[in-house]
Amino acid sequence: MILILDLGGKFSRFLGRRIRESKVYCEIVPYTYSVEKIKAKRPEGIIISGGEPNDIVSIDKLDKDIFKLGIPILSIGYGADIMLEYFGGKSTEAKSSRYNFESIKVDRESVLFNGLEEEMPLWANRENVFIDIPQGFRPIANLNGGIVAVENRDEKIYGVKFHPEIDSSKEGKDIIDNFLFKVCICDKKWDMEEFIKDSIDEIKRQIGDKKALCALSGGVDSSVAALLVHKAIGDNLVCVFVDHGLLRKNEREQVEKVFRDEFNMNLITVDASKRFLDKLKGVADPEEKRKIIGEEFIRVFEEEQKKLDGIEFLVQGTIYPDVIESGMDGKVTVKSHHNVGGLPEDMDFELVEPLRQLFKDEVREVGRLLGLSEDIVNRQPFPGPGLGVRVLGEVTEEKLKILREADYIFRDEIKKAKWDDKIWQYFAVLPNIRSVGVTHGERTYNYTIVLRAINSIDGMTAQWVKLPLELLERISNRITEEIPQVNRVVYDITNKPPATIEWE
Ligand code: XMP
Repeated sequence: MILILDLGGKFSRFLGRRIRESKVYCEIVPYTYSVEKIKAKRPEGIIISGGEPNDIVSIDKLDKDIFKLGIPILSIGYGADIMLEYFGGKSTEAKSSRYNFESIKVDRESVLFNGLEEEMPLWANRENVFIDIPQGFRPIANLNGGIVAVENRDEKIYGVKFHPEIDSSKEGKDIIDNFLFKVCICDKKWDMEEFIKDSIDEIKRQIGDKKALCALSGGVDSSVAALLVHKAIGDNLVCVFVDHGLLRKNEREQVEKVFRDEFNMNLITVDASKRFLDKLKGVADPEEKRKIIGEEFIRVFEEEQKKLDGIEFLVQGTIYPDVIESGMDGKVTVKSHHNVGGLPEDMDFELVEPLRQLFKDEVREVGRLLGLSEDIVNRQPFPGPGLGVRVLGEVTEEKLKILREADYIFRDEIKKAKWDDKIWQYFAVLPNIRSVGVTHGERTYNYTIVLRAINSIDGMTAQWVKLPLELLERISNRITEEIPQVNRVVYDITNKPPATIEWE
C-alpha cells in the first residue's frame, strides 16, 4: 500500500483516486501522522502531497524522521520544497500561483521517467523551481532550464515541482505509475473484490462475536456499509432506520422492503419525527441544525442499544469526502456532516466505518458486487440531515410537507423524461422566502421552490445540469398547480465551487 501524507493542497484529493485507478491500495492521512504510525502501516511507498504553502500547514509538525525510514518517497509541490529543505536544498518562492501545462524535459534514465516521452506537458508553475540541489540528489527534469524534479536513486527519494496527480494529465498518471510499479514495486492488487474480502476480515476482527448497531439511512453509503457488516457478522448486526421526519416521500417504505424483505436483515424502524421537529423548533442556523440532528440521531441509537442488550459497536457509512470536508484531516471545515463532525463526545459506541477510505464511485461498485439492485446503487446521495438542510431556516411540518411534494414531482418528471440516469443528484429546496404572485386573478404571497440538478464524480466538485427548458417548464407548472402554497419555481445555475451542492 501507498501512504499519502496530505499537506492540505488543493490537488491532493486527486492523488488517492489516481493510485487506486492503478489498482494499488492507498490511504490518505494528515501530514501530522507520526513515524511510529507510518511504520505500523508498512507502506511500500510514501507520497508527500501538497499544494501551495498556507497557514494551516505547520511544517514543524511533519515528522522529518520519515526521510530516514528507507521507504521510497515521492514528494510533490510544496511537499518537495519541505523535503529539499530538510536535506539542505532550496526552492524559489513563487510570486504567483499561476499554473499551466508547461513543456517539461525529463531524463529518461531516471526510473521516474523510464519509458516516457522526453518532453511532455505537465501541470506546473514556471516561477517555482529548485535552486539548490542537496548532496545525494541529482536533477532529472527541467522547465526552461529551471530544475523541477530531483532524485536520490540510492535512497529512492524523489521530489517534483509539477503536479502529476491532476485529473486530466495522462503523462502525470504515467509518472505516478512509474513510482508505484518501478520504484515501490507495488502489486496491482487493489480492486473492490479485494477491498470486500479485506474489510470483512477487518470487521470480523474488530467486532468479534459482539453485536453492532447500524445507522441505516437507505442511502448508498449506509446501505453498503450495512451489507458489508452483515456479511461479516450476520444476525449480530441490528439495523436501525430512524424516521426523523426529514425523509423524502415513500422513503421509509422502500427501505423496509429492501432490507427486511430482500436481504432478511434485522431491521428496526423508529418513528422519531416528533422528537426531531421539537428539537429543531426555532432553530435557523444551518450548522446548529446539523449538530442537533446528528446528536439526536445518536441519542435515538443509544436508546435502541439500551433496549437491545449488549451492543457495543455503531456502524456508519462515512465515506472519504465526508472525512475531508469535515476538517478531520487538518483542513478547513466546509460543513459538519452529521456522521462525522457532529458526533457528541460522550458517545457510548465504538465506531465501525468500513467505507471511510472510499470515494463514492467505489462505494457504488462495492454495492453492486454485494448484490444491491441498480436502483439503490445508483440512488442519488441524500444528506444525513435530510430535508432538514433543504428547508432553509426554521424547519416546520408545513414546510416539510410542501418540499416533500415538490421534490416528488421533480423526481417523477425527471424519471418520466428519462433524465434520471444522466444526473448525479437532483432535488428541490425550500428557501425561507415568500414572494408575490397571482393565481386565478387573486394576489398570492407564497413560497418559492428551488430546483437543483448537478453532475459530479464524487461530490467534491459539481456542474449544474442543462435540463431542457420544456422539461423545466413542465416541472414548474406541475409544482405550482399541485402545491397551493407555492407560486414561484427557480432553477439553480451555480457550480460547486463556489456553491456547495446542498444549500445548507
Ligand atoms: P455539499 O453540499 O457539501 O454536498 O456540496 C456534497 C455531497 O454530500 C452530500 N451531503 C451529505 N451526505 N451527510 C451525508 O451523508 C451529510 O450531512 C451531507 N451533507 C451533504 C450532498 O447531498 C452531496 O451529494
